Amino acid sequence: MGGYQLFVILFTMSIPFAGALKRSGGVSEAISRQLKSVTLKPVKRVSFKFDPFHERVVETRYFMHYITAPKVLKTNLTCSFKTEIQCDRTDPSITFKLVNGEEIVFKSANLTALEMCKLFNKHISVLAPEETVVAAPITAKASKKVTPVKKK
Ligand SMILES: *[C@@H]1O[C@H](CO)[C@@H](O)[C@H](O)[C@H]1NC(C)=O
Ligand SMILES: *[C@@H]1O[C@H](CO)[C@@H](O)[C@H](O)[C@H]1NC(C)=O
Repeated sequence: MGGYQLFVILFTMSIPFAGALKRSGGVSEAISRQLKSVTLKPVKRVSFKFDPFHERVVETRYFMHYITAPKVLKTNLTCSFKTEIQCDRTDPSITFKLVNGEEIVFKSANLTALEMCKLFNKHISVLAPEETVVAAPITAKASKKVTPVKKK
């Protein structure tokens, strides 16, 4: 068989992820803190591209799992997701097509899921109109949460 195969999977809600998603306590706490700020409002489409056998694909799949959690999806129900599975050793990447016409690409081979969450917030979540960020319901827990600043 040839060395190149391409499958395109379209999905709407969540990605089936085979395997345990256990992370060390500190990292998953840091990630859930980041996820509270994640909003898909500025995003039109997210495209994941990866070779499942690539040696550096795991963190991309973690991020994919986090960003497609129901809570995150609720921030923009019309945002679409696409996954391209490639078996040609290409480095994993994630492309975000934004509502404003821009495109942001994460070359994610050497990034951790936490770094991807941070990058997403730094470059994408910030583009959401302020009041929509405030609207994200956050359940308060022991950790101190940031109270959104009201615009005067
Ligand atoms: C959700 O994304 C679409 C593009 O897919 C965009 O047009 C729309 O403004 C976004 N919705 C919200 C509530 O921001
Ligand atoms: C990831 O790191 C490896 C080894 O340091 C390097 O060869 C590769 O070019 C890097 N890839 C990306 C996408 O940064």
